[in-house]
Amino acid sequence: MTTLTATAVAHPNIALAKYWGKRVGPGNYPAVPSLSVTLDGMASRTTLRFDERLREDRFVLGNELVQGRPLDRITSLVDEVRAAAEITARVSVVSANDFPTASGLASSASGFAALALAAVSAAGLAWSSEQISNLARRGSASAGRSIFGGYVRLPAGPIGTDGSIPLAAQPVAPADALPIKVVVCVTHAGPKSVSSTDGMLRTMEKSPYYERWLSYACENEAELYQALLQGNLRSVGALAEASALAMHASALACGVSYFNGATLELWKEVRLLREAGLAVWGTVDAGPHMKVLVRTDQETIVVPRLRAVAGVVRVIVTTPGGQPTVKRVEEST
Ligand code: PMV
Repeated sequence: MTTLTATAVAHPNIALAKYWGKRVGPGNYPAVPSLSVTLDGMASRTTLRFDERLREDRFVLGNELVQGRPLDRITSLVDEVRAAAEITARVSVVSANDFPTASGLASSASGFAALALAAVSAAGLAWSSEQISNLARRGSASAGRSIFGGYVRLPAGPIGTDGSIPLAAQPVAPADALPIKVVVCVTHAGPKSVSSTDGMLRTMEKSPYYERWLSYACENEAELYQALLQGNLRSVGALAEASALAMHASALACGVSYFNGATLELWKEVRLLREAGLAVWGTVDAGPHMKVLVRTDQETIVVPRLRAVAGVVRVIVTTPGGQPTVKRVEEST
């Protein structure tokens, strides 16, 4: 018997212009466009095997067997691949992240990107990157962006469809478009308290600022894209920080709060560094960690200052890049 196996390595991406909010209805479409940078220096590695001996899909994450909602999300993604490739076998998925999982460090982005790449490759489908991005995006919208390295844009989804219209991310600038490092400041070891999906749904239902966020996010993303094409680091940094603050303001207005004490200290430190003339900007996703954009030549001044902030437990210095890889193996058993 032949088993079809593939291993993919994908990298997290950090949204400079944030996605927050979904289109109402099926398909997991974002309500706003987003623009991100994929990061070398952190990775999810996923091996997927179609195995006729298995009676159910099986998912091991970081040596632990996972069931319930995370397993259901994997099954839905793999079901699309099974349907396209006419495969009925169940899968074994073994995944590991070399950074904290489900804590707001974009493990769902790199995880679903690696899963989509591994599933399509193991099934032997000759899909384009756009098709794979669309598949990953249905699992977790930010994952659609991790199918590409460098700077990547994901448009807002269509309004009012049955969920079948494809929506893929597009690479828009190479990794060296701006001279930056992204310093990930980890402020907490465990998982986050509110998932990004739950946080978004609550913001959509309850935040008095959600409508304003929708219009602001579109303007911010368009301006950030132009600044990126012009290589204007100061504008990109300022717009990225503004996007994060506006996203969190809309969430906070209905009680969805991701910051901890160390996140607030980091905001203060970033402001102080900037007042001292350094090219430094912060951004925060659905978790308490801060990612700091810093001009490459100022890394050695800025990193020790961030490491010294009270409550920072680990600092990971990453570089824009992160093109994913995938390798398929056919094993006879
Ligand atoms: O793709 P999700 O469902 O994990 O949501 C990601 C949400 C943010 O990380 C806060 C923003 C973004 O664009 O990545």
